[in-house]
Amino acid sequence: MSRVQNCVVFEPLSLANSWTLESYRQIGGYQVWESILRDKPPAEKLIEELKASGLRGRGGAGFPTGTKWSFMLPQRDKPGQKYVVCNSDESEPGTCHDRDILRFNPHSLIEGMAIGGYVMGATVGYNYIRGEFLAEPVPRFEGALKEAYAAGLLGKNVQGSGVDFDLHCFVGAGAYICGEETALLESLEGKQGKPRFKPPFPANFGLYGRPTTINNTQSYASVPTILRKGAAWFAGLGVPNAGGTVIFSVSGHVNRPGNYELPLGIPFRELLEDVCGGVLGGRKLKAVIPGGSSVPVVPAANIIEATMDYDGLKKAGSALGSAAVIVMDETTCMVSVLERLSRFYRAESCGQCTPCREGTGWMNRIVRKIMAGQGQKSDLDLLVDVANRIEGHTICALGDAAAWPVQSFVKHFRHEFEYMIEHGGRSIVNDPAQRAA
Ligand SMILES: Cc1cc2nc3c(=O)[nH]c(=O)nc-3n(C[C@H](O)[C@H](O)[C@H](O)COP(=O)(O)O)c2cc1C
Repeated sequence: MSRVQNCVVFEPLSLANSWTLESYRQIGGYQVWESILRDKPPAEKLIEELKASGLRGRGGAGFPTGTKWSFMLPQRDKPGQKYVVCNSDESEPGTCHDRDILRFNPHSLIEGMAIGGYVMGATVGYNYIRGEFLAEPVPRFEGALKEAYAAGLLGKNVQGSGVDFDLHCFVGAGAYICGEETALLESLEGKQGKPRFKPPFPANFGLYGRPTTINNTQSYASVPTILRKGAAWFAGLGVPNAGGTVIFSVSGHVNRPGNYELPLGIPFRELLEDVCGGVLGGRKLKAVIPGGSSVPVVPAANIIEATMDYDGLKKAGSALGSAAVIVMDETTCMVSVLERLSRFYRAESCGQCTPCREGTGWMNRIVRKIMAGQGQKSDLDLLVDVANRIEGHTICALGDAAAWPVQSFVKHFRHEFEYMIEHGGRSIVNDPAQRAA
């Protein structure tokens, strides 16, 4: 019960038609925005509150949101257009929470972006939504936008305050790379979604070359509740260095997969057993990818006592990433999982950087060769060598995202790859004697 009360972005979910303005108003929605329009507090004060809350970006890198917003302050009161952009591209395998914010609580995102616009001096915002979300998330977000305009919460001179904020919905064409913030900006500008060199960072040179801040859907959607209930309340939900709650998208071999908004720092064991009902069929846990497909895989023994927050998962050898928790039981063939993951990165590489363009395909071909029974022992070292040569050598982090699974799968499950090489493509999980061992 206390868990439901402590929800931030999923708070209205217990209400009928939680996505409507009427429901959002019932939980205090738009109170913060209206008080800002009325009182015009100093932007610095709101940023200090965000910093104190411990909110870190939910898009994967965990950068402190208040600090990111503060980068816009030097430009805030200077003439010229500035932008706030929301990243609803959500294409990281295993990750499926932003779509639920769009479906069930779109007004929290609209209010969060409007607040961001005020704080950073941006009068225009865009929400970049993944192309595949046409069925429900896009219409829900567009419907909420219409409601907000009709209620006089957006537009020019909102509620006679002298504050302008226009928000637009932009639907992408469905490409993982467009979730990378500068590729997203390119795509918004109508170009191919290929990441830009950084620096300059978007706060200096963003959309159309103007100062821009890009945040994840959940990051923006958390802001209204933080400012309404206070930084201390939000910080107290989590642990030091990781304030608040996060939505864990739990998938794979669990009895109750789903999106769960829970305090950061929850023990993995509690998430697995109490929240998700344990491993499917009572089988043994083998490994977990705790933060979306891009973060290193963690064997059961290393994660079972870990806490689900930035520091806890770093200690376990991985990262919180997008908080998409992929659970694998003892029946999982780790070679075929890596084949699936490496196929994804091969398909999604934009091709701009040679190490990523050539390396992602190369890694996938090596794993497929092993699965086809044609692998050689030297292939494993070659696989890791290719991954090492991609990591850190590309414009954006897609290259790292492709390398980390390869490095960690081979590091922790080398014996499974070796077994397959020695047995002509047969998986270790098909050998009951090995499995029992
Ligand atoms: C290949 C790639 C894909 C990404 N996809 C997403 C995404 O779908 N959603 C997201 O919020 N961030 C994604 N990111 C991270 C963004 O570049 C950016 O860091 C984030 O949107 C910033 O928001 P935050 O500070 O609120 O986390 C991706 C990064 C890379 C390298």
